[in-house]
Amino acid sequence: EAAEKGGYEHFMIKEIYEQPKAVRETMSGRLAKDDSHIIFDELKWTPEEVAGINKIAIVACGTAYHAGIVGKYYLENLARIPVEVDVASEFRYRSPLVDDKTLVIVISQSGETLDTLAGLKEAKRLGAKTLAITNVVGSSIAREADHVIYTWAGPEIAVASTKAYTTQLVTLCMLSIYIAALRETLAAAQVKELIQGLRELPAQAHEILEDVEPIKTFAQQYGFNEDVFFIGRALDYCVALEGSLKLKEISYIHAEAYAAGELKHGTLALIIEGVPVIALATQPDVYEKMLSNIKEVKARDAVVIGIAMKGDDQIRNYVDHAIYIPDAHKYLAPLLAVIPLQLLAYYAAITRGCDVDKPRNLAKSVTVE
Ligand code: G6P
Repeated sequence: EAAEKGGYEHFMIKEIYEQPKAVRETMSGRLAKDDSHIIFDELKWTPEEVAGINKIAIVACGTAYHAGIVGKYYLENLARIPVEVDVASEFRYRSPLVDDKTLVIVISQSGETLDTLAGLKEAKRLGAKTLAITNVVGSSIAREADHVIYTWAGPEIAVASTKAYTTQLVTLCMLSIYIAALRETLAAAQVKELIQGLRELPAQAHEILEDVEPIKTFAQQYGFNEDVFFIGRALDYCVALEGSLKLKEISYIHAEAYAAGELKHGTLALIIEGVPVIALATQPDVYEKMLSNIKEVKARDAVVIGIAMKGDDQIRNYVDHAIYIPDAHKYLAPLLAVIPLQLLAYYAAITRGCDVDKPRNLAKSVTVE
């Protein structure tokens, strides 16, 4: 096992560090050389085929579900198709409105999660066109779906998913650009800007991983708090959900993610002196609103750790500590913003002496209901 860990102490940290490579490999051969379009040889869809789709339903569990929520943003904003996202255990029992004009996308790292597989079968029974995004070639989900896109993350061993999530995001972004081209919903310049942004991701992820000391320090400082809150708006809220899941699953700290604008509808009652709040502020369209939310929690004496894009000096005036990610396209910021949160969860779990790779009560692949 030590050899498999390649010198790292745990699989989770090894997999966090493998993200630049995993993201690069997932994009490999799929970005046109001149950045003009996305290539998915495994799909080869036609404009007519795509015109027949009037709705997309995304179905997944756990971290893959959190990737699905980001996918909704991408598909709705770039390809302009209505998207609903369900956890698989809800989707399969709620009589979803799915028919032959629906594209059902299932996302699963392992390709073996029972609820996701059952959701896929239900979608097929209802006549939907189905697409699986999975990391395991020949898995049950890959075999069952009409179409498959593989994420090339390599084997993921740690129970807490990291590189699978970032490769799922990159795949969903490429898929959205691909469908947008078939529906003619994006200008050539927008496509180029996004593809250029995608190309920069591996190096940007690497840059974050080169300096983890501040995150380690925060984790040691706040690792013994019993509650931590994550807040964000728009895509930052999606990342907050994933950051909160990471922290609770491996460090057993009670963590909650809230859409920052929703705080005053309840959660603000829990914000008291010294409670750590991780505030994500990478989204330019809602940045000012986010600053107001940060002020709300600061006014209750929370300790705020802000995650912002490099160049944002303003944030320092509002938070106790700022963690910077490289300046990225706003749609791609989640891929980078999640990395400090993965590291925070990892180091908090270490601080608390938890079994990082095998957290209590959890399994890597849930093949029972
Ligand atoms: C389990 C794992 C999670 C994973 C989820 C879905 O809960 O512990 O890390 O996100 O299953 O797994 P899948 O293989 O379908 O992506």
